[in-house]
Amino acid sequence: MLTTRPTFVFFFLLFLSLPLSSFSQSSNPVYNSFLKCFSDKTKTPQAQNVFSQTNPSYSSVLRAYIRNARFNTSSTPKPTLIITPRSAGHVSAAVLCAKPLNFVFKIRSGGHDYDGLSYVSDKPFFVLDLSNLRDVTVNIADQTAWISAGATLGEVYYRIWEKSKVHGFPAGVCPTVGVGGHLSGGGYGNMLRKFGLSVDNLIDAKIVDVNGRILDRKSMGEDLFWAISGGGGGSFGVVLGYKVKLVPVPRVVTVFRVEQFIESGAVDMVHKWQSVGPRTDRNLFLRMLLQPVTRNKVQTVRATAVALFLGRADDVVSLLRKELPELALKKENCTEMTWFQSALWWDNRLNATLIDPKVFLDRNLDSSRFLKRKSDYVATVIPRDGIESLFKKMIELGKVGLVFNPYGGKMAEIAEDATPLPHRKMLFKIQYSVNWQESSPEIEKGFLNQSRVLHSFMTEFVSNNPRRAYLNYRDVDIGVNDHGPNSYKEGEVYGRMYFGKNFDRLVKIKTAVDPGNFFRNEQSIPTLPSKA
Ligand code: FDA
Repeated sequence: MLTTRPTFVFFFLLFLSLPLSSFSQSSNPVYNSFLKCFSDKTKTPQAQNVFSQTNPSYSSVLRAYIRNARFNTSSTPKPTLIITPRSAGHVSAAVLCAKPLNFVFKIRSGGHDYDGLSYVSDKPFFVLDLSNLRDVTVNIADQTAWISAGATLGEVYYRIWEKSKVHGFPAGVCPTVGVGGHLSGGGYGNMLRKFGLSVDNLIDAKIVDVNGRILDRKSMGEDLFWAISGGGGGSFGVVLGYKVKLVPVPRVVTVFRVEQFIESGAVDMVHKWQSVGPRTDRNLFLRMLLQPVTRNKVQTVRATAVALFLGRADDVVSLLRKELPELALKKENCTEMTWFQSALWWDNRLNATLIDPKVFLDRNLDSSRFLKRKSDYVATVIPRDGIESLFKKMIELGKVGLVFNPYGGKMAEIAEDATPLPHRKMLFKIQYSVNWQESSPEIEKGFLNQSRVLHSFMTEFVSNNPRRAYLNYRDVDIGVNDHGPNSYKEGEVYGRMYFGKNFDRLVKIKTAVDPGNFFRNEQSIPTLPSKA
């Protein structure tokens, strides 16, 4: 599918034949060719928006939105060019100018891809960095907002809060996550039991397609709009932004965090939670964080219930005393606050009720930890002895934690093919989570292995045929695509796990809108195999 064009070969060989230090930015032929085209098409000199590796700002521009330290090392492959468009026209020109050069074209909004697919490739590549496209326009009169791909969720929440204290938007809990990747991959947050995923609340979108056209929902058509409502970024075009429906939130919400350990009844609590979390009042999102820890010199598992209740503390306390007495929730565990403050609280801000809301405009540039994530879905309750054996396994492995995120409510009412994300009728989703501080290949190998062992251990308890995974918890362990002759087969492996039967429709749309597979990454949607 990927053709190696003569222009590319010429530039690439020339580029490789010269040591990096031997040319400045202006003597780099790829840079010159791209810059000339980009400046011509936008009718403005564009040197300030195109960075080659010899530009003094190159490293800081690249690192600003690297959110996983595993991909921020001296041996991590680096893009030949980084392009930082400032308008839709720039994005269109960048696509048209990059196409003939035939580099892999990575698109980055917030840079939170867990496996770094927006800014790493083992083939020569460019990065299109959308962090300058960050407008958020909130319209309370019709309860909508246009949110640009390069905006962060924190900016979205802040801009809504500026205009209204009784509106919100259902999306993720980390404020630095980018709109572009988050919404194109589904968007999961603590209001999903009441309002569904972010993509269940879309009205319109803008995209630049492979021909550089700027399209809205009407001009792109319902198929492509459907595909970018959860079918993943990086396969269909460059998403410029989405128009979303705001949702009503009460003036007062309640949050709490309550811990139990194996010794204090965590096994029973987690076992019972499986029947309560996904079935309780849809105003309640009750997450379980499971972590192996040492307590009083004894290895144990800590189960932390973390909750958002769209209502008052008294009501959630009486609800859970009845439905989940094992939690032993007391009113003093609860804090009432505004919805916006709850977003700060979920971001682990101390004093969420006192802190300056503007912290959500802070992008925390160039900050990252070493991490690995994986995912699973659970369709039937794990028996009590299964929870017990899971805790034992977590202690034995020592580091990997699990997050149980309840489904049910609105999620279960949405058809599996309404958006590309089919995992609607599940009880809950699991995130496997491991973070570490040390920069060491051995330590990394050990923790990656631990997460794989735990994933394998869970096989008997989780969905199968296919085993499911959540696209936004990117996991290259479940398969990658090198876009050669087996591209479709390779794509089917991870594609069925992420999208189930919806994979077939995604492939058809991909084949129609980008038959040459310009928009591709290690887990993008492949085109249909050509009938030779
Ligand atoms: P990034 O820029 O890395 O892009 C991710 C993918 O989308 C890449 O393949 C990229 O090429 C593509 N892409 C990005 N912008 C695009 C655009 N404009 N057009 C086309 N393709 C584009 N998820 C969740 O559902 N709920 C949560 O609460 C959280 N919390 C969370 C916390 C932290 C700390 C991290 C690191 C991640 C999460 N996530 C999450 C996962 C997150 O939703 C997921 O990684 C998103 O894809 C990140 O979007 P970004 O734009 O930040 O990533």
